Amino acid sequence: MADDRTFNAWAYKPLTKMQLTLREWTEDCVELDITHCGICGSDVHTMDSGWGPTEYPCVVGHEIVGVVKKVGKNVTKVKVGDRAGVGAQCNSCRECKNCLEGSENLCMKGIVGTYNARWENGDKTYGGYADRWRGDYRFVFKVPDNMSSAIACTFFCAGVTTYAPLKRCNVNSSSVVGVMGLGGLGHYGVKWAKAMGAKVIGMSHNDKKREIALELGCDEYLNTSDKEAFGAYRRQMTHILCTGTGRDFDWVTYLSLIVVNGHFINISIPEWNFPEINPFVFFSTQVFISGSAIGSPAEIEDMLEFASVHDVEPWIQTYKMDDVVKAIEDFRAGKPRFRIVLEN
Ligand SMILES: NC(=O)c1ccc[n+]([C@@H]2O[C@H](COP(=O)([O-])OP(=O)(O)OC[C@H]3O[C@@H](n4cnc5c(N)ncnc54)[C@H](OP(=O)(O)O)[C@@H]3O)[C@@H](O)[C@H]2O)c1
Ligand SMILES: [Zn+2]
Ligand SMILES: [Zn+2]
Repeated sequence: MADDRTFNAWAYKPLTKMQLTLREWTEDCVELDITHCGICGSDVHTMDSGWGPTEYPCVVGHEIVGVVKKVGKNVTKVKVGDRAGVGAQCNSCRECKNCLEGSENLCMKGIVGTYNARWENGDKTYGGYADRWRGDYRFVFKVPDNMSSAIACTFFCAGVTTYAPLKRCNVNSSSVVGVMGLGGLGHYGVKWAKAMGAKVIGMSHNDKKREIALELGCDEYLNTSDKEAFGAYRRQMTHILCTGTGRDFDWVTYLSLIVVNGHFINISIPEWNFPEINPFVFFSTQVFISGSAIGSPAEIEDMLEFASVHDVEPWIQTYKMDDVVKAIEDFRAGKPRFRIVLEN
């Protein structure tokens, strides 16, 4: 039977509906009829070539859920008719030390991104602002039966990116976690930290989200534009999870909030560099500064289990896939409360 590789996508630039070609089929492939795709900050950085040149036409979207339409002979993880999801990574080398140790998200040959990258055969990877997706089964996950597809898709990037570092840094009921930036990632950070038993301080760059942050579950709210308000939190937080900040960010102010041996975890990827750190800042704070990249397949499975046990659900707003231009406009304007999900 002929391999029908044509699919419909919203490709950039500018966002236009067009027909493109799916990757070549192999017996390791899964094909999805996409039903949902979340909008991540990384989609916008990539569309804008904000991290470096993007290869256009580019189909972004890496919080994908769909119904399995076809599977290769080597695929046992999902079957035709299942609902399945894909996150920001769609392949890795499977040979390097990190891959062999289960940190495929840190593959030493570079992770293969779900968009703006190439499969091993040279075909382009295309994301989820589309009607179909095709790729390797190793980065495809079955959606738990008790989770709607609209909710589920956001776990595959925003969910795991925030869950993995909080778990790794042992957030628990004695923790006080500051979550910087209450967007798609940040609101998940709040949800996970609360479910792990922590006290949570929502940290947002103005006062607009004060009420909704408390509704979301934050115990307290810090408007980071109000420098006087920082005084009350000096050496109070065991962890800061940074999901977004402005160019006024400075190490001294933020690290002063953290207890001795506490953690500053950055997962945001702005299009500019963080400021220099004066060595005396390390010296006087004894804080662990780290970063984190999405999550490994094992961490994704672990997160889905944790979410189901602890009833962790994101707050989403759905838009029709065909309204993606408006959805991106609203995303850029900071309107989502808290994740936009496109629906086919
Ligand atoms: N590490 C990873 O693996 C990974 C995975 C996914 C995404 N990311 C990156 O994480 C970042 C956040 O993604 P997202 O999807 O959560 O985006 P988002 O929904 O737009 O959230 C980002 C938040 O950052 C804050 N922010 C934005 N501009 C700011 C400014 N000028 N000053 C102060 N705060 C500002 C805002 O929160 P407030 O209004 O509350 O201040 C905003 O809601 C992006 O850079 C994305 O590329 C990283
Ligand atoms: Zn993402
Ligand atoms: Zn590798």
